[in-house]
Amino acid sequence: MTTPSSQSTSESGLNRRGFLEGLSLGAVATAGLGVAGGVTMNSADSAMAQEAPAVEPKPAKLLVGEPVLQCPTSTGVSIVWQVSGNATGWIEYGPTQELGLVAKPGLNGLNALSTPVLSARLEGLTPGVTTYYRVASAPIDFQNAYKIIRGETEYSPVHEFRLPAPEAQAFHWCVINDTHEVDETLHAVFNKVEELNPELLVWNGDIFNDIRTQKQLIRQTLSPAGRPYAAKRPMMFVSGNHDVRGVLARDLDLCLLPRPDSSPLGRSFALRCGPVAMIGLDTGEDKADNHPVYAGLAQFEPYREAQGRWLEEALLRPEIASAPYVILHCHIPLFGNRRDGGPEGQVEFARFCEQGQKWWLPHLKKAGAQLVISGHTHRHRFMPVNENQPMAQLIGGAPSPAKATVIHCEATASELKVTALQMDGEILGVWTFKPRNLA
Ligand SMILES: [Fe+2]
Repeated sequence: MTTPSSQSTSESGLNRRGFLEGLSLGAVATAGLGVAGGVTMNSADSAMAQEAPAVEPKPAKLLVGEPVLQCPTSTGVSIVWQVSGNATGWIEYGPTQELGLVAKPGLNGLNALSTPVLSARLEGLTPGVTTYYRVASAPIDFQNAYKIIRGETEYSPVHEFRLPAPEAQAFHWCVINDTHEVDETLHAVFNKVEELNPELLVWNGDIFNDIRTQKQLIRQTLSPAGRPYAAKRPMMFVSGNHDVRGVLARDLDLCLLPRPDSSPLGRSFALRCGPVAMIGLDTGEDKADNHPVYAGLAQFEPYREAQGRWLEEALLRPEIASAPYVILHCHIPLFGNRRDGGPEGQVEFARFCEQGQKWWLPHLKKAGAQLVISGHTHRHRFMPVNENQPMAQLIGGAPSPAKATVIHCEATASELKVTALQMDGEILGVWTFKPRNLA
């Protein structure tokens, strides 16, 4: 049985621990705040604080990791970054290291105020020209409507990037896929991408296994394997079936923003980069919408059809229609073998995207698209044109380091060269494509 005195000691210990934990949380929440924003202590707290070890708690850094450039167009790009507490933020940028311009995100007259992710969009940039930028954030202790304490602004290092120019003579990009949260694979593919130094990176789906927590969501999209990966070259996200799974799948847009240029289909893209029309489409889940596992929460079938209508129009845009190469990126392959013994007339979802064939392929075929780059099967494979397949298809491997691939595509006006690389440096194949016949 517990004696009153031992109970008292125990409670006191708990209270003290609780206080110290509270202090530590407060230090995080008020990172960088001045004296006015510090933790308020009463006299009892002060007495306990005096008992605490005389080590000043280090203020947490407000900016976490490095920013991620995404949703590029020829003249604009979105920048997403992490903060450790409630904060406002903006981007300083310009054509020289002196910066000089500011993009301040906000809505309805209010500057952005959020945690743990902030974002801003830069517009009016010059394609093919280096833009310098840094992220700025200030912690905000929002006590009430008339007491808002602003802390010291924190800045990222100055980074630089270039947006792809539609009129450039050459363009090269990399495609990775199905990394599935495997740190070793992420390090290997990002190291390879760094080595190849492409102008854009396409992450062709299945970043996740499924999205369960906000911490996981932020880590996997903004600092995968705990490292920066898109602070100096934009990434283009193509959604995979595992990226639309999990209780927080609907929060993915917090970190991987919808593209403003293809709204409301914010995960589809058609972007002219040098001689290449880069197309991205979302194949969605890999089962029928009425599969019981989705409990009635899926509507990918009309979504694929809507992307078909969007694609038809996108392929007619002058800068896309005049591109020597049209290359589709989609997570689930557009072509594949139907499973043996399936019921007659059953639509295939898992092995290939039969609805993509129905709604997208006629437009791609009419346009003379040369190549589909996919993932999903986790097995590298190249499928050349044949009588049932009007364009080539290249599938990247994954998710173990031994099976992972980086697909490197290098385009000039006369040839597109595509190389599939293993992480040990072995070349799995090189394929070349000629410009399409433009009327
Ligand atoms: Fe996958």
